[in-house]
Amino acid sequence: MSLTIYRKAHFNAAHRLYKEGWSDARNFDVFGKCSNPNYHGHNYELIVGLTGDIDPETGYLIDLKVLKDIIKEEVEDPFDHKNLNVEVAEFHDLNPTVENIAIVIWNKLRKRLDSKFEISVKLYETPRNYVVYTG
Ligand code: NI
Repeated sequence: MSLTIYRKAHFNAAHRLYKEGWSDARNFDVFGKCSNPNYHGHNYELIVGLTGDIDPETGYLIDLKVLKDIIKEEVEDPFDHKNLNVEVAEFHDLNPTVENIAIVIWNKLRKRLDSKFEISVKLYETPRNYVVYTG
């Protein structure tokens, strides 16, 4: 029997969206306030979904404590209260848009979770703006 289980998580992080080599004015035209050279923060809300089959022995899809710890190690510990551009290696050469952050998170979780699960990452950058990435 297949179903999807979800775990919510949260992190605060700073970023700047910009393209190297563009003037500040051009970056502002494209990225707006998110191009502020002095950075700014967002409250990111993360919802990780795992789809798979229930283990008939336990009735679990996955032990949620295990999923919670993986999200903490792969996302919350490295991203929370960090400047994504400066302090997170994945974004040294990758614009930390909500799209790219979701893909980075998905790739990190994919390495940690059994391939029998399908993974979805829903990431809110603001209460109204979010992406969903499923690989
Ligand atoms: Ni921003």
